[in-house]
Amino acid sequence: MSSQIRSIQWRDDAIYVIDQTLLPTAEKTIEIKHVDQLISAIQKLAVRGAPALGVAGAYGVVLALDEAATAHWDSDRLSSEIDRLRDARPTAVNLAWGVNQVRPLISQGREAVLNAAMNLAQADQLSNLAMGNIGADWLLHRIGDRPLNLLTHCNTGSLATTGTGTALGVIKELAKRGKIKEVFADETRPLLQGSRLTAWELSKAQIPYRIQPDGAAAMAILSGKVDAALIGADRIAKNGDSANKIGSLGVALACHIAKIPFLVVAPESSVDRSIADGSSIHIEIRADAEITHIAGKQMAPEGAKTFNPAFDVTPARFITAVITELRAYDIEAGESL
Ligand code: MRU
Repeated sequence: MSSQIRSIQWRDDAIYVIDQTLLPTAEKTIEIKHVDQLISAIQKLAVRGAPALGVAGAYGVVLALDEAATAHWDSDRLSSEIDRLRDARPTAVNLAWGVNQVRPLISQGREAVLNAAMNLAQADQLSNLAMGNIGADWLLHRIGDRPLNLLTHCNTGSLATTGTGTALGVIKELAKRGKIKEVFADETRPLLQGSRLTAWELSKAQIPYRIQPDGAAAMAILSGKVDAALIGADRIAKNGDSANKIGSLGVALACHIAKIPFLVVAPESSVDRSIADGSSIHIEIRADAEITHIAGKQMAPEGAKTFNPAFDVTPARFITAVITELRAYDIEAGESL
């Protein structure tokens, strides 16, 4: 089932990623052998999702080392290329984390870096399974041991990780236990990670779902159609403030009003304990054309200005719990990470 989706793999001295810009109508793999190629795949979201970006960053350091050897980069050039990779997208802490995990091993040689990167990928898969179990137990305990209607935003599944996923991993675990009635997947404007990617994964896993425009989420929540909402995270501050795909904050506010659980499910590698709260999280602002055009067709007057943040920050006071591979942090009771 969906765990066989391999968003990112290392093979034959190259990174192979599923080109997520083409899903769901075409399933194509891209071979990446150069740092530049990897940066552009990351920036156009061919490979995306915080944990997958962490693994991409780690494998990318191996590509940088290989390129340094063939293109005769000196150590300054190598270092600046690795910095460029680390900073390719600013919000998900995992990308910098993945790079920083393996970078200190460069002095031990390429194989040491590659082994560490592979270990990160393997650890990510295990952490997905742990989050799946902890999150599923938490929801059934809190809501009741019955099939649930759950709402999710963006894509947090196998495409966003190297395993089953974070929030979507919890949903898959609940489905295995026969405890999913239906998943309400927000389409996730403007790049449609919900309708293109989450729906693709849910249909492959044969989990009942429906897609709704992001604007329908508050209504679905306030009219009692869902028992809880769960999302992933790109960066979680020490106090629990969580950055995730734009639109997550609106879902959290509606859950707060409806008094239903709003869970953030993410690996410990998404927790940035160097920041006390979410106010210093750098939010990526993306191109106007993502808003003014749909599939290349102009949808707004020539020259229309846009506001296109890729992420928002949900304050901890609207989060019920944060689930990591270690445990459930009781954010509503004032716990920090
Ligand atoms: O811009 P994207 O598609 O990389 O944004 C992804 C998200 O916001 C995900 O919810 C987040 O990275 C968690 S993935 C397990």
